[in-house]
Amino acid sequence: MFATMENATQFELRLADRMSRLGTETAFEVLDRARQLEREGKEIVHLEIGEPDFATPANIVEAAVDALHKGWTHYGPSAGLPELRQTIATYVSETRGVPVSSDEVVVVPGGKPIIFFSILALVDPGDEVIYPNPGFPIYESMINYVGGRAVPIQLREERDFSLNVDELATRITDRTKLIIINSPQNPTGGVLQRKEIEGIARAVADRNIFVLSDEIYSRLIFEGEHFSIMSVPGFKERTILLDGFSKTYAMTGWRMGYGVMRPDLAAQITRLMTNSNSCTASFTQVAGVEALRGEQASVTEMCGEFKKRRDMFVAGLNEIRGFSCRMPKGAFYTFPNIRKTGWPSKKLATALLEEAGVACLAGTAFGEFGEGYLRFSVANSLENLQRALGRIGEWTEKNL
Ligand SMILES: Cc1ncc(COP(=O)(O)O)c(C=O)c1O
Repeated sequence: MFATMENATQFELRLADRMSRLGTETAFEVLDRARQLEREGKEIVHLEIGEPDFATPANIVEAAVDALHKGWTHYGPSAGLPELRQTIATYVSETRGVPVSSDEVVVVPGGKPIIFFSILALVDPGDEVIYPNPGFPIYESMINYVGGRAVPIQLREERDFSLNVDELATRITDRTKLIIINSPQNPTGGVLQRKEIEGIARAVADRNIFVLSDEIYSRLIFEGEHFSIMSVPGFKERTILLDGFSKTYAMTGWRMGYGVMRPDLAAQITRLMTNSNSCTASFTQVAGVEALRGEQASVTEMCGEFKKRRDMFVAGLNEIRGFSCRMPKGAFYTFPNIRKTGWPSKKLATALLEEAGVACLAGTAFGEFGEGYLRFSVANSLENLQRALGRIGEWTEKNL
């Protein structure tokens, strides 16, 4: 006899305690609600989700199709295909100016698992982890999940959302195990300058603390140059560099990213891969080699397009009553201050979705210090961005 639904529900769901500490990424919830509104016949401009609206470049797609035909459809090594690990090692050596070998590279399904695995591998209950706030919500979620102590470092608008190194220095204690930094940054578009990164390195000094450097937007930078803490002398063996393919090559749905770290830690992260995913899909890894070695013109083109949209959208936001927006230096997000509207972030984001048909995220989706801000992704066409500005403008004229 099969159990009926009624039978199944008589058993209480007894989750592990740690599940109550797990957070989420609100973008997916807002996307669900926006899709529901669309099913009801509403028309929505989607500025909530953080993914390029471009197609994956054709040379990469072809490499994957070819790999499928050639039989790259089986398990591969947990740490990634040797050819891709070597290609990544060469790429990171060139872009970060430090020698990297393939045994320091672990390929995983997206950039996210590097956050998950690094925290699982390093953080014991009670250990402190310093992380940016507002910041990518998965950091705080994972720190709490493993029972670590999440120590926020506030990113402030008046500093262009970079990090105050003196403040960071005061947060470091004997229990600090890990510091997470992210540049270019989600959600603010802030970019840490070389002198700030060097300041962070000085603050850490010779302590045995790891730095998880989330550089998933390293190729999406509009002003200045990307600089990695991995390049600071003495920091290579204390850095876990997170990078990947999702944002740079418009490959969010392919699920492929990587971490670069000292070989003994790489072996441990590989054990977590063996225990969870076994390996990253083989044919996508073959395409990953093509992504890094092939023509890079599409990356430059996408970046140029994001810059144009950013310029237009920020100028438009600054025309809206109660909004003021700094010019983000990287990634594809704008993070306007909406305090002068008098509305809390979440309430305003909900009203814009339900009443104006514009999906965006409340700053608080990125932590407590996101209150007073909204995040709009500019990964949408100029035309749609203009429509969104028109709708927000109209809505604010009517309601504020
Ligand atoms: C700062 C940051 N890190 C990591 C990720 C995860 O990227 P992926 O889709 O490759 O897992 C994202 C995605 O939004 C991000 O914004």
